[in-house]
Amino acid sequence: MPSLKKDARLSHYHEISASRPRVIVTRKLPAQVEQRMGELFDVRLNADDIPFTPAQMVAALQEADILVPTVTDKLDAEMLAQAGSQLRMIANFGVGVDHIDLPAAKAKGIIVTNTPSVLTEATSLMRADEWAGWTPTFLLGHRVNGKKLGIVGMGRIGQAVARRARGFGMAIHYHNRKPVHSSVEQVLDATYWPDLDAMLPHVDIVSLNCPYTPQTHHLMNTSRLAHMRADSYVINTARGAVLDEDALTKALATRQIAGAGLDVYEHEPRISDALRKLPNVVLLPHISSATIEGRIEMGEKVIINIKSYVDGHRPPDRLLLSEVA
Ligand code: DGY
Repeated sequence: MPSLKKDARLSHYHEISASRPRVIVTRKLPAQVEQRMGELFDVRLNADDIPFTPAQMVAALQEADILVPTVTDKLDAEMLAQAGSQLRMIANFGVGVDHIDLPAAKAKGIIVTNTPSVLTEATSLMRADEWAGWTPTFLLGHRVNGKKLGIVGMGRIGQAVARRARGFGMAIHYHNRKPVHSSVEQVLDATYWPDLDAMLPHVDIVSLNCPYTPQTHHLMNTSRLAHMRADSYVINTARGAVLDEDALTKALATRQIAGAGLDVYEHEPRISDALRKLPNVVLLPHISSATIEGRIEMGEKVIINIKSYVDGHRPPDRLLLSEVA
């Protein structure tokens, strides 16, 4: 197999088999994506969709030119230290990369890409045959029109949430490391709160949309939940550990806050019995990106990132430590 010619402009790229790199995919992906990968790459798929054991992951790290992991695969420093020198790239299937130790990957010269900008909007009482029919007070929620939404993390996803919430007539408030561009603030009529503690008592619904990093671990802890009003709600579609789940369980049980909507969990897929039994929490199984269209687009991004790289170009979704830190 030919390898890329050395070129000063491409000097930051490693040499890699230009035609059919060995690509190992850790979980089952949409059929179209797997088929296309088979056409382009020397690909090894996971037809059974059984998560790799640590030993299988190490073997993959020692065989693959390019690894395509996803959110369920823990690639910490210890794991990455065992990667073979042939491993050039981790083309993650998913936007969140908190399961990958980026500095450890960088130290081994492995580039990491993700699948940003693929957003979705995406519930079994009926199946359990427990619906006794319509009543005026059954499953009542609040109208969101006219309510204040407090977005924590105003990146691509936070801004997409804000645009949709504007459509529902909500007022947008947000907390971010720094304010977004004034043109974005203007379009969204959004109010910036540099101090999260100050924003919390002011809003009706708190939406967590920040990445999970050491800085955002338990960002919503006992003290922050205590800043929320008793009639307010928290929604977490980011990562479970952004929210201290024990603290949340206590806040919900004592009605310190009105309710929560969770798509992600601190110890996924485990959910504590105490949380599961609460009547004022809606629990979804990490499905906020689970649409066929979205997953195919994620796969397309993985393929484009790999193909760009093996063709000698900068993968469009390459993650730089300075951008994710
Ligand atoms: C991601 O892409 O990180 C999502 O959590 C998958 O739903």
